[in-house]
Amino acid sequence: MSGVRLRAMTAADLPAVLRLERRLFPEDAWSEQMLRGELADQPRTRHYVVAEDDGAIIGYAGLAAAGGQADVQTIAVAPERQGQGVGAALLTELLDEAGRRGAEAVFLEVRADNDRARRLYERFGFHRVGLRRRYYQPSGVDAIVMRRLPDGRPPVGFGPEGGRDR
Ligand SMILES: CC(C)(COP(=O)(O)OP(=O)(O)OC[C@H]1O[C@@H](n2cnc3c(N)ncnc32)[C@H](O)[C@@H]1OP(=O)(O)O)[C@@H](O)C(=O)NCCC(=O)NCCS
Repeated sequence: MSGVRLRAMTAADLPAVLRLERRLFPEDAWSEQMLRGELADQPRTRHYVVAEDDGAIIGYAGLAAAGGQADVQTIAVAPERQGQGVGAALLTELLDEAGRRGAEAVFLEVRADNDRARRLYERFGFHRVGLRRRYYQPSGVDAIVMRRLPDGRPPVGFGPEGGRDR
C-alpha cells in the first residue's frame, strides 16, 4: 500500500477506469454512459473514488447513498495489485462516507462464486441477508445480498448467518 492514495473520481479518470472495468468484469462491464451517469450524481447521492499509485489508477469504488441507506455500487482492484490491501482501503473509504452521510445500513450484492470479495465483505462486518437467484446474466450465477449495520454488529435473526431468506 505504500505510495497508494485515494482521491475522488472525476470524468477525466473514465478511460482508465473503463479499461480496468472491462478487464475485471468481462461478462457485465459497465458502459461509459453508466459510469458518467453515476459521476453526474456526485456528490448528491454518489461517492466514487480511485486508488492511484504513481499517477496510475489501480482501483476504484463507488457508493450510492440516499434516505438513510447506502449501497456499495462497485469495487475493483487491478489483478496485479490485488492482495495488497487496496480493496480494504477502498471499502474503508466507502464505509466512512456512508457513516458521514448518516446511513443506517450499507447493502451490496456479490456473485455467489466470488469468494475473495465475500471474504473481504465478511471481514468488514457484512452479513448475508438475501439471495437473488440467477441475478447475473448470461452466466445465471446467483447474487448474495449482504448488509452491514453501522458498527458492524450482526443482524438479529436465526441461524448461523442471522438471515432468513431461504
Ligand atoms: C474483491 C477485490 C476488490 C478485493 O481487492 P484486494 O485489493 O485484493 O483486497 P485486499 O488486498 O484488501 O484483501 C484481499 C486479500 O489480501 C490480503 N491482504 C491484504 N493486505 C495485504 C498485504 N498488504 N499483503 C498481502 N496480502 C494482503 C487480505 O488478507 C485478503 O486475504 P483473503 O482474500 O484471503 O481474505 C478484488 O479482488 C477485485 O477487484 N476483484 C475483481 C472484481 C470484483 O470481484 N469486485 C467485487 C465485486 S462484488
